[in-house]
Amino acid sequence: MYAERVLSGMRPTGSLHLGHYHGVLANWVKLQHEHPCLFFVADWHALTTQYDDPQHIHQNSMDMVVDWLAAGVDPNQATIFIQSKVPEHAELHLLLSMSTPLGWLERVPTYKDQQEKLSNKDLSTYGFLGYPLLQAADILIYRADKVPVGEDQVPHIEFSREIARRFNHLYGREPGFEEKAKEAVKKLGSKKARLYDELRTRFQQEGDKEAIEQAHALLDEIQHLSVVDRERLFGYLEGTGKMILAEPGALLTEASRMPGLDGSKMSKSYGNTISLRESPEAVSKKVRSMPTDPARVRRTDPGDPQKCPVWQLHQVYSDDACRSWVQEGCKSAGIGCIDCKQPVIDGILKELAPMQERARYYQEDPSLVKRIVNEGCDKARDLARETMRDVREAMGLDYS
Ligand code: TRP
Ligand code: SF4
Repeated sequence: MYAERVLSGMRPTGSLHLGHYHGVLANWVKLQHEHPCLFFVADWHALTTQYDDPQHIHQNSMDMVVDWLAAGVDPNQATIFIQSKVPEHAELHLLLSMSTPLGWLERVPTYKDQQEKLSNKDLSTYGFLGYPLLQAADILIYRADKVPVGEDQVPHIEFSREIARRFNHLYGREPGFEEKAKEAVKKLGSKKARLYDELRTRFQQEGDKEAIEQAHALLDEIQHLSVVDRERLFGYLEGTGKMILAEPGALLTEASRMPGLDGSKMSKSYGNTISLRESPEAVSKKVRSMPTDPARVRRTDPGDPQKCPVWQLHQVYSDDACRSWVQEGCKSAGIGCIDCKQPVIDGILKELAPMQERARYYQEDPSLVKRIVNEGCDKARDLARETMRDVREAMGLDYS
């Protein structure tokens, strides 16, 4: 059976935290066993907002790759690469840009949202407007079937589908084209259908140019055809086409249930994170200083886990027995908050230990990381080149 190809990318934000792990990476690690997977660093996408300060992108990219490896992304299972090292993405982006209506880009919801959110930056640039189109090129160049993303990225995947459809419509043929074309022939009525078929055969078998002109004239006369059917019949005359770019689907990643140290979503901008490389001492310290139910001023005051961010971490790290212990002990003031936090600390440390061991391994050998990335880039480039050959050919830009 054909294994669906999975592709996803991440902007290089530097070292990652538990929110990334639970929200994205754990899913990647799972997917790599089920599908051929491509995971890449979207460093050009970082430039769309950081064009004025690109100095850190390189280091952030490499740090992020180390964290992917640490989290368990296995270079023997998945292909890890860097966007800018596969310049074919840029070529496809450019070719797609020729036929992408401005309105489509302006209507992508993230465009205005991000401009408003990052209002300290001038994002009325060509590059930033093109962000979703670059993303579409990232996806379409690998003919990815599935793109695991969070909810915020779903419009970008839909946009990519529209871009693929438009491309195929302009330069290629839809799937099932032949059947659909034959249906359209029938709609011409028996007499004209016979003439059409005859002219088509003459053109296809004898290369008769006059036949094709006559066929065009025939189609031009017919009023009742839909635009799509007319397109099909023109295309069918010259031979059956193929689908050049595949329409990808989003693989919606469940929203991460990973709360931050203050109970809101774990995010760098909230300063409530635990990084994947956090030392055990720092983890303990951070969890110990987490706020708890404000009603528990003294050890003897009972509390309510529902009002406490530590309880949310118990949802991620504790089993049923431990959770009942928390519920009971908190409400009866039977346990103190420091007691309550210990299983969470233990859970986080247990989760981080194998990751940190792998991170150390890769950090000690940067040339190994470079090799992994280079090999991944080579593989990705081979795939990208295949698609670009078809794309150039379909657009008539094949000069070989
Ligand atoms: N825009 C994505 C994000 O911000 C990153 C990204 C770039 C991406 N290209 C992609 C994700 C292609 C999936 C597929 O998270
Ligand atoms: Fe929060 Fe646990 Fe303290 Fe209750 S005992 S307030 S759940 S930390």
